[in-house]
Amino acid sequence: MGRDVIVACDFASAKDTFEFLDKFTGRKPFVKIGMELYYAEGPSIVKEIKKRGHKIFLDLKLHDIPNTVKKAMSVLSHLDVDICNLHAAGTTAMMQAALEGLTREDGTRPLLIAVTQLTSTDQEAMERDLLINKPIDEVVMHYALTAKNAGLDGVVCSPLEAGKVHDTCGKNFLTVTPGIRFADGDKGDQKRVMTPKDAKEIGSDYIVVGRPITAAEDPVAAYERCVREFCD
Ligand code: C5P
Repeated sequence: MGRDVIVACDFASAKDTFEFLDKFTGRKPFVKIGMELYYAEGPSIVKEIKKRGHKIFLDLKLHDIPNTVKKAMSVLSHLDVDICNLHAAGTTAMMQAALEGLTREDGTRPLLIAVTQLTSTDQEAMERDLLINKPIDEVVMHYALTAKNAGLDGVVCSPLEAGKVHDTCGKNFLTVTPGIRFADGDKGDQKRVMTPKDAKEIGSDYIVVGRPITAAEDPVAAYERCVREFCD
């Protein structure tokens, strides 16, 4: 898969989601389904969006013992999603079990990417609550490398970290980056942001864009603008 824009469908119900997706009569965007929508609507929302011709990043961030994650991933892989994810903090054994679970009978599987440290975790919280005393940048790169060595395909990271992740893990290791805003747009609660154009230049493979598209007056135009800036 090449560079692409993933639209974060952070809606509370299937109704709101389909009202939004119905606007896209041309190119069908790659969509991200998160915990809120999945827990509200269950697997049927994934099947329905897939049936409409969208690629899907199922953002459920699994983290449990290896055997449980393996079985859960097997269920997700049969939903025919394109990307799913887990926490690298689950360790190498959990990531390898996840890959086994994801792999279908015919040898194919969705891409699997890892969350390193959540961007809501800062140095202070990491030291105080997790007893991790290394600099957070070093921790993020270590988790990315651990994910790569476990056989994963990439990480979710800030676009500001994408270049360094590629330097550390190789250019084929995918960087999927939220925190995207247009140069003339509202930042919302995101602190460290980048434009689609800058994310392209720094080497992000996929950008995840929510409110700049979902809350735009013309979501299709905002999506097309992202595609123009990031993909062309
Ligand atoms: O609306 P906005 O563009 O900020 O949405 C970004 C999406 O990416 C949301 O679904 C958010 O939960 C997700 N995300 C993020 N930062 C991370 C990981 C995921 O913003 N570090």
